Amino acid sequence: MEAHQMKTLKGKPTGGLHGTLVVPGDKSISHRGIMLGAISEGTTKLSHFLTSADCLSTLAAFQQLGVPIERVGTNVTIQGVGLHGLHASGQPLDMGNSGTTTRLIMGLLAGQNFDTTLIGDQSLSKRPMRRVSEPLARMGATIETTDGHLPVTIKGRRLRATHYQLKVASAQVKSAMILAALQATEPSTLTELLPTRDHTERMLTAFGGQINTAADGVTITVQPQPHLFGQTMTVPGDMSSAAFFITAASLVPGSTITLKDVGLNKTRTGLLDILRRMGGKVTISTEPTNGEPIGDLTVQSADLKPIEIGKDDIPAVIDELPLVALLAAKANGVSRITGAEELRVKETDRISAIVTEFKKLGIAIEELPDGFVIDGRKPWRVTDPNLDAHDDHRIGMVLGIAALLVDTPVTLTGAESVGISYPAFFDDLDKLL
Ligand code: S3P
Repeated sequence: MEAHQMKTLKGKPTGGLHGTLVVPGDKSISHRGIMLGAISEGTTKLSHFLTSADCLSTLAAFQQLGVPIERVGTNVTIQGVGLHGLHASGQPLDMGNSGTTTRLIMGLLAGQNFDTTLIGDQSLSKRPMRRVSEPLARMGATIETTDGHLPVTIKGRRLRATHYQLKVASAQVKSAMILAALQATEPSTLTELLPTRDHTERMLTAFGGQINTAADGVTITVQPQPHLFGQTMTVPGDMSSAAFFITAASLVPGSTITLKDVGLNKTRTGLLDILRRMGGKVTISTEPTNGEPIGDLTVQSADLKPIEIGKDDIPAVIDELPLVALLAAKANGVSRITGAEELRVKETDRISAIVTEFKKLGIAIEELPDGFVIDGRKPWRVTDPNLDAHDDHRIGMVLGIAALLVDTPVTLTGAESVGISYPAFFDDLDKLL
């Protein structure tokens, strides 16, 4: 891992945030573009691919599995090898910090005819993998974990179909099961607890797969599909990256910003709904597309009301919950966020990290087992100016935004962690200041 960098964060901007930005490509879609391109026949071309550490972990892993992939800037060309054309890697595959790469690749490699070992960094090696290995085992997969964690060895096997009710609301688990089900002997059905991001389903359809979500929104049928076909696609801007600037512009008085070509898949736009409920000012102009919905967002600062959010709201805002906490910390009342226990098993325990770091800024935040209670009426007062990203990109970025709201200088240890999903985050923020 890179040495920790300490960065002095920018404080209160005079006159707010202004300008127009194109945020980098969507992380979830970039990962899936490489994976589906790799197992398709023919060429896949991705533009506006996210060149962050996590997506580069996926790209390198598939190169190691024998897939010719070339990248020039944010343009990626994949010469697909087909569902049966991957080759064993002589070395373990290094997943870096990427949970998405790890879980999806487990599903895909469970049905191949070779063995693979996956390793990862310290943070990833603490994250739960049984949520994927156990349901895959029901399909006949042989996956050896290390006490439920990485390193993991996948012994590729012929897989049976499954009819499985997911135990966590997780798009990573769902997607791993879909990639395994593609290789099963019969059609499979997967039932989600709540609808989660559906990029795998949409993209698989675009690549020629047969997958169907029932009218209930949670029952998914996957047909075995030996042949997928390469596609050309532009990756939409990442809503989860745009979310930092949406929050900043909402909170810093006098701001007006525009974010161009942001992905607006409704399984990802929970933050926009929450912000609207809080009285935020966001206007959206959508553009016609034949794939993932995209649009331009204009955000202005606003006085915010407190909010209550619970279990059903969580999947569409899972990665933006640190930002919801920040919005709540400036709202004119008490907000309650519950049903978010999944935050404890992200890149760090995000509930604990947010509570620890927000308390340094004097924010009135109380930890719950599955969320937090925040009183936004209490004025902030910095009690400890040394903030810490906890080796977590999204914690680092939310603290970069929080710093815009304090009068005294603060520093951030672990600022380099933003490279996991948004290497140019601080440069892009500077463009709006
Ligand atoms: C992702 C799913 C979510 C999300 C992660 C990306 C994906 O994780 O937090 O950043 O690309 O499928 P879970 O599925 O574990 O909730």
